[in-house]
Amino acid sequence: MVRETSLSPDNFIYPLFVTFGKNVRREIKSMPGCYQESVDMVTKHAKEVFSLGIPAVILFGIPEQKDEIGSGAFDPHGEVQKAIRAIKNKVPDLYVITDVCMCEYTSHGHCGIVKDSDVQNDPTLELLAKEAVSHAQAGADMVAPSDMMDNRVETIRLALDEEGFPEIPIMSYAAKYSSAFYGPFREAAESTPLFGDRRTYQMDPANRREALKEVALDIEEGADIVMVKPAMTYLDIISDVKESFEVPVAAYNVSGEYSCIKAAAKLGWIDEERAMMELLISIKRAGADLILSYFAKDAVRLLNK
Ligand code: PBG
Repeated sequence: MVRETSLSPDNFIYPLFVTFGKNVRREIKSMPGCYQESVDMVTKHAKEVFSLGIPAVILFGIPEQKDEIGSGAFDPHGEVQKAIRAIKNKVPDLYVITDVCMCEYTSHGHCGIVKDSDVQNDPTLELLAKEAVSHAQAGADMVAPSDMMDNRVETIRLALDEEGFPEIPIMSYAAKYSSAFYGPFREAAESTPLFGDRRTYQMDPANRREALKEVALDIEEGADIVMVKPAMTYLDIISDVKESFEVPVAAYNVSGEYSCIKAAAKLGWIDEERAMMELLISIKRAGADLILSYFAKDAVRLLNK
């Protein structure tokens, strides 16, 4: 009766990794229970996610070919575009969000176009807009830019409006920190940068006020939902953003947070279910309305018990 916070299946967004090929379901070594899946398999998986009561998924793509400008990102026959169409066809009521970024598609693994070893902000914007539009054309319900280029939300908003998708909302990775906790994801998405790191475009973990500035800019540019990422080590940021703005707040319980708990549990060093639920409720308590989490299925199974 007096419990202040509760988790519901409605709070979750489950990440899925789409790869090329057929009948592929490859477990990601550093993320037990998570898979790279071809379109046919990911569609089945999406059905399972929806049947558990999870309302939404977010799709990441692993293309067969990568190039300098990440052209696979806006290929109408790319794996993500195919997966969107297949999922919307087979599981029409599942809400399909797409991650909009270049790092999974570029040969160098950076989130934008590179010149002289530096990521070029402005030339990247046009490509991100093309990617977002191509996801919308395939039937995505919402796009989520995660690249951290300046001005990308406005560029994507204008492009979606122009191309006839004024109703497609944007969930921006607004306060995205440069984090070691993305390590396992980079194995999953095969997107580890070949040189350098993402510190020139992702945020410094030491900065708190800067997060509010990043979020304010994204809202001004048209973001409908703002995200804080990672979650576990940035609960103060989630709380600040929730207090300061009126839009829904999402938090990304990232790969490293998942893998740490899974690994400790495997060694018998921690109670997996309790640690998972404590982590998720703390993210909710901090102020997140939505939680992107690899734990979503496990947590919802427990909640449904
Ligand atoms: C792409 C992207 C990343 C994650 C989500 N989108 C990786 C990165 O920025 O390096 C990380 C998600 C996770 O660790 O679970 N830019």
